[in-house]
Amino acid sequence: MCKFITIKYQLMSTITLFVFQLEFATMLLSLLVVVLVLLFCYRWHRQSQVLQNLSDKYVLITGCDTGFGNLMARQLDRRGMRVLATCLTEKGAENLKKETSSRLQTVILDITDSQRVTSAAKWVFSIVGDTGLWGLVNNAGSGHGLCPNEWQRKEDFAKVLDVNLLGTVDITLNMLPLIRKSQGRIVSVSSSGGRLAIIGGGYCLSKYGVEAFCDSLRREMRDFGVKVSIIEPGAFTTAITDCDLYLKNLTHFWEKVPSEVKEAYGEQYFKQYAENMKSLRTCSPKLHRVTDAIEHALTAVYPWTRYSAGWDCKLFYLPVSYLPTVISDYVLLRSAPKPAPRVM
Ligand SMILES: NC(=O)c1ccc[n+]([C@@H]2O[C@H](COP(=O)([O-])OP(=O)(O)OC[C@H]3O[C@@H](n4cnc5c(N)ncnc54)[C@H](OP(=O)(O)O)[C@@H]3O)[C@@H](O)[C@H]2O)c1
Repeated sequence: MCKFITIKYQLMSTITLFVFQLEFATMLLSLLVVVLVLLFCYRWHRQSQVLQNLSDKYVLITGCDTGFGNLMARQLDRRGMRVLATCLTEKGAENLKKETSSRLQTVILDITDSQRVTSAAKWVFSIVGDTGLWGLVNNAGSGHGLCPNEWQRKEDFAKVLDVNLLGTVDITLNMLPLIRKSQGRIVSVSSSGGRLAIIGGGYCLSKYGVEAFCDSLRREMRDFGVKVSIIEPGAFTTAITDCDLYLKNLTHFWEKVPSEVKEAYGEQYFKQYAENMKSLRTCSPKLHRVTDAIEHALTAVYPWTRYSAGWDCKLFYLPVSYLPTVISDYVLLRSAPKPAPRVM
């Protein structure tokens, strides 16, 4: 009888302890949910605060002939901002003017031409005067040489670095005095390829460089009240990702490589590489994901330092870039073509 009472007592105390632990865990979980909801609301409230007097603000965007730059110029113009759009060609500038208000002004600019960049800065000053320039969007870019490193020469690397990195640096340095005046914003379009080197050639090099330039500039500009943001898009349907043009350029590179290199890689490698690149046909057509991020960086009271645009960037490139090298290499090499006589 006594034994029975002891067992009953032990059972009851075990159940009481379990119920107490369950209640405690539920309480902790509820607290966590409340904290998360509060954090989410705070973040949402903070990010949705927009600046006043946008119609007084001037924004210079490079590379507005096509793609993100073109859409961005039209989007900010509709928003009532004063857009100064640089285009590489007369035709690009004419087309853009046809689709926008009389507020938008254009200038022809090749960002690799330093003299033209200096002249463009004078042109901007003649328009904005002592008010200064509110925003600079470094968008112009080239996708030259998106293929294996060994198929290219130094000139191919230089060509893309000249536009994507040195052009960006040059225009930023020229516009800085005007941006400091207005305590404005610098927004640079990098790439998910600026976080993870997914392909050979100068493109990823240039985007890693853009990230480094923006990171150091952000710290230097902090005390001047200038904010620097980086946009990291995944793959979107624009001229840079035009699959047919890309395959044509790839074939051009392959035909030019020395016969020794061709033998080492083998025809099958080239074919598989070209086949893999056909995935460009499934790029996202939702360019607004990039332009909305740029708009936020220019118009929000609290812009973010980095914006990853596109699900491929958020769910694949960015997470993989944080993995240990041995794992990220394994992930990236799984579907990569193999050279003819496999060394390993
Ligand atoms: N599309 C994507 O999937 C993707 C992904 C990540 C990052 N990005 C970046 O996004 C930016 C915009 O590219 P996009 O995708 O919109 O392609 P895009 O349509 O080719 O836009 C690039 C623009 O830059 C212009 N440009 C090229 N070289 C120039 C130079 N030397 N000086 C001035 N302008 C020049 C081009 O003019 P023309 O058209 O006359 O050549 C074009 O208007 C680039 O920095 C690119 O690297 C794109």
